[in-house]
Amino acid sequence: MNNQNHTPPLLIHNARLATPVASTDGAPNWQLTEIFPAALYCENGCIVRVGKEQEVLAGLPACEHLDAKQRLITPGLVDCHTHPVFFNLRSHEFVQRVQGKTYKEIAAAGGGIRYSVRDLRQADAEALLQRVLQRLDNFLQYGTTTIEAKSGYGLSLEHELKSLEILQQAGNQHPVEIVPTFLGAHEVPDEFRERREDYIKLVVNEMIPAVSQKKLARFADVFCEDHVFKAEASRRILRAAKAAGLRPKIHADQLTASGGAEVAIDVGAISADHLENTPPALFESLRRRGVVPVLLPGADFFIRATKYADARAMIAAGLPVAISTDFNPGTCMTENLPMIMTLACLHLRLTPAEAFVAATLHAAQALDMGNRIGSLEVGKQADVVIWNAESIEEIPYHFAVNLVQQVIKQGCVVWPRNQASVN
Ligand code: NIG
Ligand code: FE
Repeated sequence: MNNQNHTPPLLIHNARLATPVASTDGAPNWQLTEIFPAALYCENGCIVRVGKEQEVLAGLPACEHLDAKQRLITPGLVDCHTHPVFFNLRSHEFVQRVQGKTYKEIAAAGGGIRYSVRDLRQADAEALLQRVLQRLDNFLQYGTTTIEAKSGYGLSLEHELKSLEILQQAGNQHPVEIVPTFLGAHEVPDEFRERREDYIKLVVNEMIPAVSQKKLARFADVFCEDHVFKAEASRRILRAAKAAGLRPKIHADQLTASGGAEVAIDVGAISADHLENTPPALFESLRRRGVVPVLLPGADFFIRATKYADARAMIAAGLPVAISTDFNPGTCMTENLPMIMTLACLHLRLTPAEAFVAATLHAAQALDMGNRIGSLEVGKQADVVIWNAESIEEIPYHFAVNLVQQVIKQGCVVWPRNQASVN
């Protein structure tokens, strides 16, 4: 969304407020603050007052107001790991997996990511943009106001830049805020299968400098897995990215323990994502290095993995666990982050409150945006969801049903579209 500096003031009142609150001592704060009756007042897209209704209203000048009618209000959800720039769906692979093929078998036969790469390279840029915008609508209507979004289905200089440019255009046209990540090391494309080292050189010597010079991404990511980029190659790529000003992220230890978490620690990644097979002995080093663990239980669910990440041990080790959809056409075809909260409760054993903190404040920290989004605190962006619910626990409990009533991005009502003026 474009600069919202001149958004008129807005008051949301008669609300049940629930929000994470950033800790002051650096240790994760898993407690939610809950206030009823509560109000929130914003100017220029930022929160100026929030808390008990009486205190917020005291001496407040007349302004537009929105009656939450005693519903739950929370910060907008932050989806810190998504792959939305693909063209056609891969529902045929879903059918193959239902019939017994594994994700790896489909990939080895030329399907998976490489299918999406061949497909995206043929797609018309305008048509691709329209599909990305449709997906942003889906994120928004489930309460997500910021996404991290990766390239990674282009895998050539031309098509990786095209993917990132489409993300930039989509972000300029849509209320969902997009934080772009360069994922040229998502797979080795068909034309480099017999010369993988040449592909790594292309990523390091041409793609990373071009992405950095054009300022098309904030982060760089690698799919670190023995059958894709091994730990050593991942380390080289992420070191080069970091030197070019792209902060490292990594798909680590999803299918096997392939050394991804160690690479995250070595290069000082902002986040290490997946971590299903990471040795618990590394959790303390992740914490000391400030690496945010991003857990993606939707991908495990959707590929019928038997192993989920050990979230309880991570929390016990003091890590600020985040959760995200991993929205992509292969391993997690959903923009529904509340549904991922359900999976996080059932399979990662998070409480609903913990799952909520993981999908907001900790997800913001995985994007180095913890001081701007992820909680309803004075000075932060007024990204707010009004829910057809009274408590946080109803969100994962009433699963796969959309409880979102209204979404406010930087002080503007942006969903539903036809109610985009306040009452
Ligand atoms: O995060 N791990 C790599 N990327 C995706 C899968 C992408 C695809 O199959 O298209 C993931 O799970
Ligand atoms: Fe992913």
